[in-house]
Amino acid sequence: MLTVAVLISGAGSNLRALLEAARHPDFPARIVVVGADREADGLAHAEEFGIPTFTVPFRAFETREAWGAELAAQLDRWEPDLIVLSGLMRLLPAPVVARYSPRIINTHPAYLPEFPGAHGVRDALAAGAEQTGASIIVVDDGIDAGPILAQERVPVLPGDSEQTLHERIKPVERRLLIDVVQRIATGDLALSN
Ligand code: GAR
Repeated sequence: MLTVAVLISGAGSNLRALLEAARHPDFPARIVVVGADREADGLAHAEEFGIPTFTVPFRAFETREAWGAELAAQLDRWEPDLIVLSGLMRLLPAPVVARYSPRIINTHPAYLPEFPGAHGVRDALAAGAEQTGASIIVVDDGIDAGPILAQERVPVLPGDSEQTLHERIKPVERRLLIDVVQRIATGDLALSN
């Protein structure tokens, strides 16, 4: 059974979809802990499912490196086989990436390498793109630049706002994320960096 730690910053709707998938007895992965860099609303989903949580507040640390070291210490307590960044809106310091690479993956609301970074949906709209998408990647030292594990196109519709477009992307992200975690767990998908 693949053990998974999930890191979030926000509402955790994709986390919730993964929690629901992992609840099924024949799903080959289990979420063992959910962590956050702030008092994220999404931690409530983990609590509802009886999954332990931790918070390592970014603002409580003087440097990104010190924050990352504490984050890694918390993760290590659970010895996860895989770490999923599901809306973690912080760049991990290089030593943390190196510690877990390539067993650390990220979901992103754009068709990478198009529109990387913190505002993938807004940037696609601002560029006037007719389509964007969702991607699941291996985390490396770049910004959303690691190997792509899965991705799918999502059309931009006339009148889309950042919110309506993001809400249409998220179900695609969830489906891809659940499928990727499942394929990693069964060995169908090998991770490399
Ligand atoms: C997701 O769309 C995720 O891809 C995005 O944040 C959202 C989190 O939503 N992550 C990034 O943009 C990372 N660059 P959620 O908290 O409702 O799951």
